[in-house]
Amino acid sequence: QELQMNLEQIEKGGFDHFMLKEIFEQPSVIKDTYRGRLHADKGIVQMSGIEDNLEKFLNAERIIIVACGTSWHAGLVAEYIIEEFARISVEVEYASEFRYRNPIIKSTDVVIAISQSGETADTMAAIKLAKEQGAFVFGVCNVVGSSISRESHAGAYTHAGPEIGVASTKAFTTQITVLTMLALRLAKAKGTLSHSDFHRYLLELELIPEKVKEALGTIDSAKEIAAAFKDAPNCLYLGRGYNFPVALEGALKLKEISYIHAEGYPAAEMKHGPIALIDEQMPVVIIAPKQGHYDKIVSNIQEIKSRSGKIIAVVTKGDTQVRELADYVIEIPETSDALSPLITTIPLQLLSYYIAVYRDCNVDQPRNLAKSVTVE
Ligand code: G6P
Repeated sequence: QELQMNLEQIEKGGFDHFMLKEIFEQPSVIKDTYRGRLHADKGIVQMSGIEDNLEKFLNAERIIIVACGTSWHAGLVAEYIIEEFARISVEVEYASEFRYRNPIIKSTDVVIAISQSGETADTMAAIKLAKEQGAFVFGVCNVVGSSISRESHAGAYTHAGPEIGVASTKAFTTQITVLTMLALRLAKAKGTLSHSDFHRYLLELELIPEKVKEALGTIDSAKEIAAAFKDAPNCLYLGRGYNFPVALEGALKLKEISYIHAEGYPAAEMKHGPIALIDEQMPVVIIAPKQGHYDKIVSNIQEIKSRSGKIIAVVTKGDTQVRELADYVIEIPETSDALSPLITTIPLQLLSYYIAVYRDCNVDQPRNLAKSVTVE
């Protein structure tokens, strides 16, 4: 028994939980994921699974992404990035809905399955269906040799290493890293990004691990905010554009490990419902980096403030405008709008982690949840 305990301590590498260890591994696993694939100095981004099947991607009329849970959120981020960079239309589907709704799949479609475990039953069934209909299936998995990676025609692994915490963290950011590289590779082949933008994004991506490291420095703000809101019964998460899926992911993290009811919304949709929930009790986490829709987000924040909601804002370092309105600000380093999810996600992971810790929840193994869902 004691030996078992000690072993687990060693595995956690000095962290209290696997989840915190995995959050802190992100700078290195993002680098592991692009190592050997991204050469910003040479203007090269390549992954063998894509090079070998480049024509399939370039001839694709559309890309359909199928996934579940956090992987589905990574798919939503990828939709924005692929459409913007490579100008290929992308649909993102819950694997469970896709497989049962008689979807239209053409042989010119590329289906991307995203799965950390590579074992999720619904995602597996979705790709089998897509294959039957003649689509090309590309897997983005973390577990090498997993069922989905074997069932796919080709793929690119994330190099996150084993993820033990049930709530997914490093798998999410490495999935976005792979899918961003895919978008950049396709953009290069299609000429849909200017030469200078293409190079700028390569360089930006290479800087992400350092910036994630800096974003991990928000740990003290996360603790302070977590202490203030640990007893809240509800929480809203808002973001726009690339950061709308991050709002969904932030809310999911909180639900999963702290059992607080949370919802993520595109900030502009607030007025179509969630605004009715806002009163002085309601914490609203709002992702408001300087790049991308900043003025719109500021007016959303004003709407919350005028209804006395408690505002927790994730802002770019040096921001002054939101600081004046928000109850709490979390400062993150600047990056381009398209890559910002890799940074804005970090403080939200830390926030949900500390809220769960302060509520004495079982962070690594939340009730009712499984790390991989191999049954329906
Ligand atoms: C479960 C896990 C989630 C995960 C989802 C999809 O619900 O608890 O963390 O995002 O399955 O898993 P996958 O392995 O396919 O990414």
